[in-house]
Amino acid sequence: MIRLVEFEPEHFPTLTIWLRSERDLVQWGGPDLTYPLTEHQLEQMVEEGKTTPPARLCWMAVDVAQTFLGHVQLALDWKNGVARVARVIIAPEVRGRGHASALLEAVVKQAFSYRAIERTELNVYSWNTAAVRTYNKVGFSHEGLRRSSVRIGDERWDTAVMGILRPEWEARQL
Ligand SMILES: CC(C)(COP(=O)(O)OP(=O)(O)OC[C@H]1O[C@@H](n2cnc3c(N)ncnc32)[C@H](O)[C@@H]1OP(=O)(O)O)[C@@H](O)C(=O)NCCC(=O)NCCS
Repeated sequence: MIRLVEFEPEHFPTLTIWLRSERDLVQWGGPDLTYPLTEHQLEQMVEEGKTTPPARLCWMAVDVAQTFLGHVQLALDWKNGVARVARVIIAPEVRGRGHASALLEAVVKQAFSYRAIERTELNVYSWNTAAVRTYNKVGFSHEGLRRSSVRIGDERWDTAVMGILRPEWEARQL
């Protein structure tokens, strides 16, 4: 069982060691972050949660033994009723055990717990099969592809846009 706990400075070192290269960082957090991930960058993410209403919520995922299994964030656009799942990661040592879909189920449930949220979306690099399979499994549909949208070293990556609407999510809860 996965539980989400509020992301706090005491968790910064755990998350930081999961991101071992610039490639890991961009795969996780997109091209706007700089490697290596610093406390300052993490503090800025936490700060976004201090507005009313919050613009971003960040969590660590823990199991019943309080072991850290992963991390996830939700960026909230209250004006349009859109939540964006972001910065999903499962700890490298526990990948491949099905934790990703439990983490996603938990964060999407959290997103739709806000009555104002009608749509939950995310961006994922199209080659990231484990992530795309997870998102499909929890009900996200492919909505489009931003081709060649990110540069990483000599490579260019395509970004897939995926989303799930409230009625689609509610139908899955029956
Ligand atoms: C993406 C990520 C969260 C998935 O977590 P995970 O624990 O590895 O995934 P799971 O064990 O829950 O498996 C998810 C699905 O992907 C498949 N999968 C896992 N690793 C795979 C791989 N290397 N290649 C292809 N498929 C893979 C699994 O078989 C499963 O699919 P299925 O249920 O249809 O069989 C994890 O790999 C990760 O943290 N990656 C680094 C950060 C990242 O890419 N985040 C996503 C940003 S959008």
